[in-house]
Amino acid sequence: MDLFEMPDFDAHEQVVFGCDAPCGLRALIAIHSTALGPAAGGCRVWPYARLSDAVADALRLSRGMSYKNALAELPFGGGKAVIIGEARGKTRERLEAFGRLVDSLAGRYVTAEDVGTTTADMEQVACVTPFVSGLARESGQAGGDPGPKTALGVFLGLKAAVRFRLGRVSLEGLEVAVQGLGGVGYPLCRLLAAEGARLRVADARPAALERVCRELGAQAVACDAILSQEVDVLAPCALGAVLDERSIPGLRARVIAGAANNQLARPEDGEALMRAGILYAPDYVINAGGIISVAREYQGGATSAQVRAEIERIPARLTEIFERARREGRPTSAVADQMAIDRLAAAGRRPMQRASACA
Ligand code: NAI
Repeated sequence: MDLFEMPDFDAHEQVVFGCDAPCGLRALIAIHSTALGPAAGGCRVWPYARLSDAVADALRLSRGMSYKNALAELPFGGGKAVIIGEARGKTRERLEAFGRLVDSLAGRYVTAEDVGTTTADMEQVACVTPFVSGLARESGQAGGDPGPKTALGVFLGLKAAVRFRLGRVSLEGLEVAVQGLGGVGYPLCRLLAAEGARLRVADARPAALERVCRELGAQAVACDAILSQEVDVLAPCALGAVLDERSIPGLRARVIAGAANNQLARPEDGEALMRAGILYAPDYVINAGGIISVAREYQGGATSAQVRAEIERIPARLTEIFERARREGRPTSAVADQMAIDRLAAAGRRPMQRASACA
């Protein structure tokens, strides 16, 4: 594995590998950019088959965090941590060893929750380092589990996308397919159902699927059929790279608006969606609600009402991207990338451009 030659390497500032043999921790932290401030981004726990898969994920996710934080106008750069292993294998020792790895970077990287980690895990990490956010908070204060805040931003962004592409203000009777019913997908389904959307849902965990069907009257769909449902909106809220050359020809939705990071397998897939007449809400723009909460909690002093007000700016940001993409005849993903790259460049460091951003 040649790190510097990997397709996802984008002049990342730093990649740190950490191993704590006694407790079995194998982790890495990728810092893409600190041009705008300390690199902030969650910690993912996942049983990667190969080290190179974990590195590629950390590289891709950390660059996404640079773009996300830049477009959310947060004073933070982009970073991401991955712990290699099953989420059920997390122990106090492993989380604390991970915390020491975060601490060794002396604040250049701030961690929080992601797939496979919880608020309780971050509390454990906080026992050994102050460079952590997404901790339990008193009500009224900014912070806590970012999942519901991400869901709120996705919900508001989805409504903006529906208005732009379908010309509809109300979600009443709108058909929405949601892939993944975890920390974000579940609260998103609740918000959608409360406004009258009709849900088709899939999750690899039968209990998560059963809960949404029972509580919200959603229709269960097999995991391998959720992407190709004949619906108005598809909301990918599981893992990344679900939109690729194999899945895109089978998509029936006219809007894609979901929480998952890195939904496009390759930059060209944004072009394919545009050609198919599908409006894609760039993932790192629509799913910024969680990092807005995490960032304001970390800085201190903000209230949950202030965080909500910031999340409520996501729809306007998306609409600006949709309008510019239409005007310029470019994919929404390429427009968002360009805006993020321009902001990072203006802050003093010019990240290597990706093909989509140069197009
Ligand atoms: P989670 O781990 O709580 O939930 C993910 C759900 O997807 C799980 O219930 C899992 O069983 C399901 N799943 C996995 N593979 C699946 C498949 N092939 N088909 C159907 N379901 C599948 O994760 P969370 O926090 O809900 O995050 C979801 C996505 O949103 C991730 O890509 C994450 O990176 C992204 N995201 C999350 C944020 C947050 O605040 N939690 C913030 C921004 C992005």
